[in-house]
Amino acid sequence: MCGIYGFIGNGKVEDLINGLKKLEYRGYDSAGIAFSRNGSLIVEKKTGKVDTLCSAINDTLEEKINAGIAHTRWATHGMPNDINAHPQMDCEKKIAVVHNGIIENFAALREKLISEGHKFISQTDTEVIAHLIEKYFKGDLLEAVRLATLDLDGTYAIGVIHADVKDEIIFARRKSPLVITKNEYGSYCASDVTPLISLSRDVVFLEDSQIARLKKGAFEIFDLSGKQVEKRFCHIDWDEKSAEKGGYKHFMLKEIHEEPRVISDALMGRVKGEKIFLKEMEDWKDHIKNLRKINIIACGTSYHAGLIFKYFFESLRPFDVEVEVSSEFRYRNVLIDDRMLNVAISQSGETADTLESIRLVKSLGGRVLALSNVVGSTLTREADKTLYINAGPEISVASTKAYIGQMTVLYLLALYIDSVMGKEHPEKVKALSRLPELVDQFILTQEKTIKDVADRYVGYSNFMYIGRGMNYPSVLEGALKLKEISYTNAVGYQAGELKHGPIALLDEKFPVMAVAVDDDLKGKMLSNILETKARNAHVVAVTSASDHDVSSIVNDVIRVPDVENYLYPFFVGISFQLFAYNVANNRNLNIDMPRNLAKSVTVE
Ligand code: G6P
Repeated sequence: MCGIYGFIGNGKVEDLINGLKKLEYRGYDSAGIAFSRNGSLIVEKKTGKVDTLCSAINDTLEEKINAGIAHTRWATHGMPNDINAHPQMDCEKKIAVVHNGIIENFAALREKLISEGHKFISQTDTEVIAHLIEKYFKGDLLEAVRLATLDLDGTYAIGVIHADVKDEIIFARRKSPLVITKNEYGSYCASDVTPLISLSRDVVFLEDSQIARLKKGAFEIFDLSGKQVEKRFCHIDWDEKSAEKGGYKHFMLKEIHEEPRVISDALMGRVKGEKIFLKEMEDWKDHIKNLRKINIIACGTSYHAGLIFKYFFESLRPFDVEVEVSSEFRYRNVLIDDRMLNVAISQSGETADTLESIRLVKSLGGRVLALSNVVGSTLTREADKTLYINAGPEISVASTKAYIGQMTVLYLLALYIDSVMGKEHPEKVKALSRLPELVDQFILTQEKTIKDVADRYVGYSNFMYIGRGMNYPSVLEGALKLKEISYTNAVGYQAGELKHGPIALLDEKFPVMAVAVDDDLKGKMLSNILETKARNAHVVAVTSASDHDVSSIVNDVIRVPDVENYLYPFFVGISFQLFAYNVANNRNLNIDMPRNLAKSVTVE
């Protein structure tokens, strides 16, 4: 996600650039800085790498400054370009703001501020924060930021500098992280500890709904009522590399731990009470009412997310949903018409086969909806519409959090389409809103068990993953994850297909990963598990928390919470991600960059 860095004290412009360089690993598409010079703010920002920004301001790098804020942006609202890059400013160009997160009510705030005479120049949600602070500023910057944050719905970590307030900079957060430290030269704040550990190893993690006022060499923290709160210092002994990974050994594990937040970010602004709002789709309502078929086109993990959509949507109503891997779709003699919705799913938005597939659809007069994580990617530019995942950059090659984000948005899409077609699902919408907390709890409580199971199976060279119904795509994804990062032969099958061939493979050296949660197909899964046990296979079952019958016949159990049937794929997906991770970690493999694989496959 975006990176924030700022300081007040003795420093140079170059210090801002160096702070940003330490945050580059987080992924970004543009970068910018703001500092004051003779009572006015200097703001420099550029699309592309921090080095591009650095070259553009080469002459000022050595300039001495007493405060500044800096940002690397990963676009969520508005294309990655110089105008949308942060810092964003108020009308008078006295206030500069950097922001990480999503302001859910930015459109309403923007409209109100425009009606009050404010002038906007970017497409970002961030710009409303600068104008709100301008509106509330009466000489006390802390108070103005406090009042502004009270108006914001959504998530934010912000850094604020004011041309007329020379001895302080302000930071505030809700859900998006900020860390603060100080030394004899100044006080510093950043999105994570990476740029801070060379300055001091004693840091304070700002908590939700807190505001910090940084002065040279000192800082204070306040709650949203303006009351000062106590600072709790933590000592960090990570080196810089582990700091990048938030203390996790690999990005993959860090990204799995980000999944609860990914789900809530994907839901943000799209769920209100029992209703789904997909404003991007509003002008396609008539088209949706007329739909006769949904075509999903994707590759790899995104393809598996697409398969889950098919099962979920069909559980809402009988409907023709076809899911095809792009490399096949693009060479088929497909029938496309205007009563179809073609959905291209791609985390990167740059996968060559998916791009060629949508070009085919468009050349035949079809409509394309893109689901992507990267604002401004080729797919999003060529599709008619885009729903963004908002998962933040995924660094590990094997996709984990993007997959969970894709599923979340696909569930929203399914419920939205069905509501436009006439059926509301208030219970399902509410259940989705509870998901981030359930997933958080699940990872917290089950991670160790899954690791222990993985430790017991690390010696096997073959695995068979089986499942049925909505959990069939999860076994394909589970097997893919294990192949990708542990180089272990793993196959995923519909459990009902076992006896048509794959069962011949099974013996005591070929374990089975079976998904047998408490759904309508559990009885069938039990029979399938017994068939594999009869061939001496060791069985690891992913089953529901309250299960007795499956757990009493298998060798090892991974328990997921008792949830509505359609939510199991989230928990099964995460279980298999953690299982694959721990098998690969046990074998000391290069988990974040597996051999022969690329994050973005831009060639056929
Ligand atoms: C590559 C990646 C996978 C990804 C697939 C599709 O194979 O290694 O993790 O699922 O591409 O990528 P996309 O960006 O289109 O979702």
